[in-house]
Amino acid sequence: MKRIKPLAQILAEGSDEKRGLKRSLGPWALAAMGIGAIIGTGIFVLTGVAAATRAGPALTISFVIAGIVSALAALCYAEVSSKIPISGSAYTYAYATLGELVAWIIGWDLILEYALGAATVSIGWAGYFGNFLTTAFGITLPARWSHSPFDVAANGAPLHGIINAPAAIIILLITMLLVRGTRESGLVNGIIVGVKLAIVAFFLIIGVQHIDPANYHLAAGPMTGMGGYFPFGWTGVFGGAAFIFFAYIGFDAVSTTAEEAKNPSRDLPFGILMSLAICTVLYIAVVAVLTGMVPFNDLNVASPVAYAVIKVGLPWAGLIISLGAIAGLTTVLLVMMFGQSRIIFAMSRDGLIPKWFTAIHPTFRTPIFSTIFFGILIAAAAALTPIDIVGSLTNMGTLIAFVLVSIAVPLLRTRHPELKGGFTVPLGNYFLPILSALASLGLIYSLKFQGSLWHGIPIAWIGFVIWMAIGLTIYLSYGRTHSTVALQVAEGGLAARQPPVN
Ligand code: ALA
Repeated sequence: MKRIKPLAQILAEGSDEKRGLKRSLGPWALAAMGIGAIIGTGIFVLTGVAAATRAGPALTISFVIAGIVSALAALCYAEVSSKIPISGSAYTYAYATLGELVAWIIGWDLILEYALGAATVSIGWAGYFGNFLTTAFGITLPARWSHSPFDVAANGAPLHGIINAPAAIIILLITMLLVRGTRESGLVNGIIVGVKLAIVAFFLIIGVQHIDPANYHLAAGPMTGMGGYFPFGWTGVFGGAAFIFFAYIGFDAVSTTAEEAKNPSRDLPFGILMSLAICTVLYIAVVAVLTGMVPFNDLNVASPVAYAVIKVGLPWAGLIISLGAIAGLTTVLLVMMFGQSRIIFAMSRDGLIPKWFTAIHPTFRTPIFSTIFFGILIAAAAALTPIDIVGSLTNMGTLIAFVLVSIAVPLLRTRHPELKGGFTVPLGNYFLPILSALASLGLIYSLKFQGSLWHGIPIAWIGFVIWMAIGLTIYLSYGRTHSTVALQVAEGGLAARQPPVN
């Protein structure tokens, strides 16, 4: 029989103030949290390699495509999170609609998204940090302590790395901040999000004055493909979209904070949609300006946004942008690791993973054990894995979550018509949710174009299947028998067989 967690129980757990988490986040705090999670390594780091090797100036169109896929999914997230305003995000929605097995799959998938997403961002952070030290103080970090063993230079030469120490250290520092609690992290997040938006505006104002239209139509060549606006054709554009999709990840993290939101059914949709809308507009502008400032084939560097302003003769501006990027990437880490610990918290509360993960710190009221446990694992991944592998695996995990959340929308409406949330996806029960699921599947397929492949199969597909196999093994050997829903069903069954007392 399919185990579905009763919605009444889900909602009651979320509103149990004493047992649960502190409610301190309003609508703009949630939108800021979304922006804090969204603008990061995708735009500041991956844009450069995507323009140089995948899409050329047409990367702007890749950003439009990935933006549309994300917007469709965001609508679905907005509806389900306003109807089921509880911690755990897509995991919880799936538990109420699609059953425990799908919920487990999605929860396990979200762990992949947030944990490897945080690892990816920390590697980008380490790149900007290294560049900043070099530009500002002439200090160059030794390659063996700032690269994973598998990292190679742009020309393919090995870098002989041992561990990426800056990436691991920043993860451990964020872990300590998160143990201190949401209110403090929310304040830090708000300040840095302001800095990040200012830096993006600063880049746009400076960059727009240095656009050379010739950069949109370079001649064909060994490094410039077919030349023109589409040097690598439409497969390049779609491959680029699947790669830089990473830049849009993060709005869904807003929905993991439901139990800390003051008015979740109204404020979560606002936070999700507003943060994505602001970031989409900024991204498209940044990429159009960036690929107009310098020839796209020059952009395959660790800090392309700073590089472009330095290249047009403004090194001081490059330094400011680097500092802003370092601060900006820090907030992405904060929100991703925050979201990740909350997913674990929700799964542990349901008995699908051991109960120690629900341990809450007596003073700070934060899920201390899950935060520290995963902080250490993420630091290890960041220290030892190349950025394109963790990045594309994160994309894969996120897109699968998008597919499942999109499917949950019509199911939730038909099975629970009594739930009235603050937001409804327009145009009927099926059209946009199904379009959303298909769009995410299309982007998953596009990982085939110019990504990291093994015998023609994207490494992200293979990694995802292995991750899921591990997850299912854990579910079948532990979660299935310890699930609180299962235990309640069993107790209910026992009670039903007992004779009435009088
Ligand atoms: N969207 C986030 C970033 O680009 C994950 O860093």
